Amino acid sequence: MAAASPAPVRFPAACHHCPEEASPRCIRYLRIKRCQLLVRAGRHADEVDSDESKSGRSRMFVLGMGYVGRIFAQELQKDDWILSGTCMNLEKKKKLEKCGFDMYQFDATDPDPGTLSCIKGHTHLLVSIPPDKHCGDPMLAHEELWRSSLMDGNLKWLGYLSTTSVYGDCGGAWVDEDYPASPSSESAKLRLAAEEGWLRLGRDLKVSSHVFRLGGIYGPGRRLGCRSLS
Ligand SMILES: NC(=O)c1ccc[n+]([C@@H]2O[C@H](COP(=O)([O-])OP(=O)(O)OC[C@H]3O[C@@H](n4cnc5c(N)ncnc54)[C@H](OP(=O)(O)O)[C@@H]3O)[C@@H](O)[C@H]2O)c1
Repeated sequence: MAAASPAPVRFPAACHHCPEEASPRCIRYLRIKRCQLLVRAGRHADEVDSDESKSGRSRMFVLGMGYVGRIFAQELQKDDWILSGTCMNLEKKKKLEKCGFDMYQFDATDPDPGTLSCIKGHTHLLVSIPPDKHCGDPMLAHEELWRSSLMDGNLKWLGYLSTTSVYGDCGGAWVDEDYPASPSSESAKLRLAAEEGWLRLGRDLKVSSHVFRLGGIYGPGRRLGCRSLS
């Protein structure tokens, strides 16, 4: 079992498996990140494929299969991973099911125990649900409902999608993961608390755990112009 890592993963980072260079603002960046993510989970995608063919396929559960989570899931699906996930909206759920994902309609502020118990059957968990302004990270707010089942489950990797807003106003300085987080807005403070909560949980579960601090992402169906206009 891979050791839990105490610090967020360092990006950008070279990956010798990926010859491409892509901007963090480009959707292609996600593919490279996925590759790095597998490497950092202990193995590369090729090795995962051959290993899992002997011992069963890897299973990713995406808590909050929104824009990033869906693209991530589609990439893993190409590598024969089994994908499950949640969304709040019923129409989205139906669309995602048509993509071959096992979907659950789920509100983390009022979590359904049945959905929570499904997570433990998965080897990998990606958390994409943002903090709630009232309760902070809604999953961690209900941690007592699902933590013990994860302890007994198959989980070996945990990822949390965060945001660069945790750095606060850096006055235009270059920022990497060694730059101290200094969130100024309330939402960024909640985000930093969520990062810490998920990393703590990862350590407790003794699974490899990583935080990904995303900048603004655009790609098909989502452009920066559209976001700022909406
Ligand atoms: N995309 C970016 O540019 C960017 C930049 C920095 C950070 N991030 C962060 O990275 C994560 C993924 O981004 P994204 O763009 O993919 O976000 P997104 O499209 O809004 O996806 C978020 C997902 O979380 C679900 N969700 C939201 N609140 C929930 C709740 N209370 N209970 C259960 N599910 C809930 C949404 O369900 P529904 O879709 O059904 O509503 C959706 O599936 C988010 O935490 C986001 O804040 C994104």
